[in-house]
Amino acid sequence: MKLYTIPHRGQLLLQKPNLAWAVVIDVLRYSTTLAAGLANGALRAYPAREEEEARKYHADLVSRCEPALLCGEREGLPLPGFDLGNSPLEFTRERVAGKTLVTLTTNGTLTLRTCAGAVRILLGSFVNAPALVAYLARHNPDSVYLVCSGKENAFCIEDFACAGYVARLLFRAMPDNVLSDPHTIAACRLMADYHNNIERLLFDSNHGKYLCSLGFSEDLKYCARPGEIDAVPAYDGTYLVPAEAMGGET
Ligand code: MLT
Repeated sequence: MKLYTIPHRGQLLLQKPNLAWAVVIDVLRYSTTLAAGLANGALRAYPAREEEEARKYHADLVSRCEPALLCGEREGLPLPGFDLGNSPLEFTRERVAGKTLVTLTTNGTLTLRTCAGAVRILLGSFVNAPALVAYLARHNPDSVYLVCSGKENAFCIEDFACAGYVARLLFRAMPDNVLSDPHTIAACRLMADYHNNIERLLFDSNHGKYLCSLGFSEDLKYCARPGEIDAVPAYDGTYLVPAEAMGGET
């Protein structure tokens, strides 16, 4: 398996690589939150590009009597009239089980939609990194791009470090692979510099500091727990669903 890291979404827009498998990483907080939502029994999640699209999509589902929740954030906070924000702690079984989530976030949903065309698109974060790595090792695709969402087309440390964390787990699980992509090597070194202290890394990050200023420090602690969640969200072109529900073709 060849492993590449795209340091932030802006670069993806410039390079337009022919993505084979893509793993969208938005640690704070979209990838974490969606993994929590699907693990807690949400049926599926629709990633909207814009607020109007999200509201309309949700209204259509409700008009067809489908149980649906409108979820997401702008500047980290829930939007007026939305059922949930973007905190993984809100996506409990009581709130989300059996529902379709219509999601809108500043970066995560856009990065996901930017990857459209890849053979398979997964969501990765620290909480589901072991499950993600087990899934990748099982399917062993030729190449995988770890796409760091970043913030507004710019780099952010937590997504890049998570790419390093995933890469290290993957190379431990599949030692025959050769680590040669320079971005992936740098991401692994960044994670090693933190001696795997993920919580410290998240509290050091700019977006982490911003979320703390809004009162979301418990979110950071949750997002820092590797292996907390078994679910690997996969995008089927319309919805995010548990990867195992998509079958095994590569
Ligand atoms: C995003 O997609 O920009 C983030 O998930 C923002 C957030 O922390 O809610």
